[in-house]
Amino acid sequence: MDLNVLKDTAKKMVALGKGIIAADESSGTIKKRFDAVGVQDSEENRRHYRQTILTAEGLEEFISGIILYDETIRQKTDDGTPFPELLAKKGILPGIKVDAGAKDLALHPGEKVTEGLDGLRERLAEYSKFGAKFAKWRAVITIGQGLPTEACIDANAHAMARYSALCQEADIVPMVEPEVLIDGDHSIERCNEVTEQTLEETFEELKEAGVAPEGTILKTSMVIAGKKAAKQSSVDEVAEATVRVLKAKVPKELAGIVFLSGGQGDEQATAHLNKMNQMGKYSWPLSFSYARAIQNPVMKIWAENPKANAAKAQAALLFRSKMNALATLGKYSDEMEKERPY
Ligand code: 13P
Repeated sequence: MDLNVLKDTAKKMVALGKGIIAADESSGTIKKRFDAVGVQDSEENRRHYRQTILTAEGLEEFISGIILYDETIRQKTDDGTPFPELLAKKGILPGIKVDAGAKDLALHPGEKVTEGLDGLRERLAEYSKFGAKFAKWRAVITIGQGLPTEACIDANAHAMARYSALCQEADIVPMVEPEVLIDGDHSIERCNEVTEQTLEETFEELKEAGVAPEGTILKTSMVIAGKKAAKQSSVDEVAEATVRVLKAKVPKELAGIVFLSGGQGDEQATAHLNKMNQMGKYSWPLSFSYARAIQNPVMKIWAENPKANAAKAQAALLFRSKMNALATLGKYSDEMEKERPY
């Protein structure tokens, strides 16, 4: 492990005024997304869609890194350039999703544990050859009647620590993603409690495993009421609660924090990040690593006519990337949405 390499990569991932696009939808997830917009889930369609994202001109102004999926990191543009090579040429860091998905946790109905540790050392070595500089692992925590259990949080935190150690051993920055799901009717207070507990356990396990926080990025959900809650959270409530939890539970030495969008509306996710960055300066940069909140309009436009609409889809991608990049500086306002090119 070379801590300087890790620190350098982590710093670039959360460089001032930039954020990360998650384009690492697994086979199952991309099928779900394509089904929703009426596109056939073929390898060529997946390649063309991802190519549309990766080749958007000027994306590097707002985007520091893009997370790819196992299939995607092996794919090429029409002219035969491997995707990770294309990104490196633009100065965008290629990342890779390395977990094997959330599976049912034995003896714990309704809960999941993320798999993917077996053979991870070898897979990381291969991804490193492809040019991957950071690696994402997503754990899922569900809020419900009597959930989450300690067993679920412990099992996921332990797995995240083992994966992070393997990443750092390979000079790849771990992007640790414990996602507290937004599904359900829980209050923001309950989400606050569960997020605290999850982050506390995660960083305890990471520390015990010897993982260097200076070479680690946290990808977290925001503290927010469940989608079906009677009382929905305001922008101020989300920003204040999220920042409070992060200040209490995230080590100051951590290289940076990025958020997932988790089913929030596109503009809502931007507004939340913006508010947090307007509220003050923190020990770590606060940025984004959205999939849906950036890609929603992009995929819709592309799906209407993949070949003819590529430029329009890219305009939407650049616009949402710019709005979120401005939000990392606290310089976004909803007035700007009037300029939307879609
Ligand atoms: P969403 O922003 O759509 O939640 O996706 C982020 C992500 O990478 C989930 O693993």
